Parts: sequence; structure tokens; C-alpha cells
Amino acid sequence: MLSSAPVIVDAAFASAVRELADARMGTEHVGPLLYSLIRAVRPRRVVEIGMGYTTCFILRALADNVADFEAERRDLSLLPFPHPDHYREDHVPRLVAIDNLEHPASLAERAIAVATDLDLDRYLRVWRRDLHGSSEAFAAEDLPIDLLWLDAGRYRTFTAVAREYWPLLAADGGLWMIHSTLTNLEGQAFLRELKLRQATVAFNDYELVSLLEPHKLAQNSVTLVRKISGELERIYTPMP
Ligand SMILES: C[S@@+](CC[C@H](N)C(=O)[O-])C[C@H]1O[C@@H](n2cnc3c(N)ncnc32)[C@H](O)[C@@H]1O
Repeated sequence: MLSSAPVIVDAAFASAVRELADARMGTEHVGPLLYSLIRAVRPRRVVEIGMGYTTCFILRALADNVADFEAERRDLSLLPFPHPDHYREDHVPRLVAIDNLEHPASLAERAIAVATDLDLDRYLRVWRRDLHGSSEAFAAEDLPIDLLWLDAGRYRTFTAVAREYWPLLAADGGLWMIHSTLTNLEGQAFLRELKLRQATVAFNDYELVSLLEPHKLAQNSVTLVRKISGELERIYTPMP
């Protein structure tokens, strides 16, 4: 028996977040993708740059993880292969969401209101400020970042975030997801740089994969970078 059913949203959630689904943002599938990713990798410290539809999916996943964590810790037999280390520390996740509200169609304030209505705001800290320099305000408890979701800006922002936020990502599997990378010149330029670095000076620093939504011309892709420069060796089970 699994501790919770593998459904990503219920009807009440789907209906509450509908007003945040703005086609120009193109995150209609990224929200559920982030939800599933967070359910699977169970990050404790999440940072979102660029709020909106995705904010509520992240928060819902954090809340569902807490519920599962508590049930599983009470009864580890809920899982087929529980890892005891995962249950030693309390699971107190948080989302630091950064948005300077500059985008004329910014959904940040609406997302906060919807999250509050859904009683998910207890996991949320909103920083209404520019992403540049914001990392200085992180508290010790916000670091290292387990998952960084970037949905703002283009090439210059990507490189600035790489400089400022990449060092704050957990070296043992921290994830950086970037929106809209594959089918525009700025995204491609940034990806080429990542690949070049990986092939030359940063071979063991990260893993990289991108996903394309082939039915869309824009806002149609994500790139996932997994930091592994400090990855622990894990062999839990013998082959095969
Ligand atoms: C594409 S929208 C985010 C969409 C949202 N993730 C969704 O799923 O609906 C980008 C957001 O980033 C914010 N933004 C743009 N540049 C920023 C910057 N330099 N610092 C902080 N926020 C920024 C905008 O105000 C806007 O709300």
C-alpha cells in the first residue's frame, strides 16, 4: 500500500489554479512536471524565480511530501524500500519565491492569493525584489538550494543566475530547471556554453538534459541541470 495515491492534483486544486494558467507563460505542463519532480526527489529548499502558475504546483508538492513523510516516518512499512536516513531529520520544506513584478502580465500577486486560499502559503516566502543580488538575503536555513526553478529572463539572466545561484545549489544532486531554452537563440547559446564547459573544464560538475514540447513554437522547453560536483557514492543494492 502506498502512503498516498499517485494523483497529481485533485479537482479543487485544479479549479483553484485555473485562473493562473496564462497561455503566454507556457507552463501548463511545466507545473505538473515540477509537481511530479518534487514528489519524486523531495527537495527541502526550493527557490523559484518568476512566480505564477508553477508556484502553486511547487507548494502543493511540498505539502504532499510533508504529509507522506509524516505518515511514512510513523510506519516505514508503507514503503517497499524505505531509506532510514531520509527520516532522521524533520521534513520542513520551504519555497523562496522571487519576483520583481516587472512583467506587465505578472501573476505573482495572484499566485500568492491562490496559495493562501489553498492553505499552502505556510511553505512560501515571497521576495518582491529583483533576482540579481537576492541570494545575499538567503538565511542559513535556505541553503543549500535543492531545487532552483528559473522562469524569467533570457541569456543574460541565465548567465547571471549561473554566477550567483549555481554556487548555492546542493553539490550532491541539486537541480536547476530553466524554462524556454531549446528553440530560441539565447537559450541555445546558453546551452552550448553549458555543454562546452562540461566537455572541457567541468566534466564532473553536472548532468544535463532538456525536454521539448514538440507541439509548441515557443515557451516549449525546459533544461534540467543536476549538480554532481560533490555527489556521494551510493550503491544501495547489489547487481542486478
Ligand atoms: C514568465 S513569468 C513567470 C511565469 C510563472 N512561472 C508561471 O508559471 O506562470 C516571469 C516572471 O518573472 C518576473 N521577473 C522577470 N525578471 C525578473 C527579475 N530580474 N527579477 C525578479 N523577477 C523577475 C516577472 O515579473 C514575471 O512575474
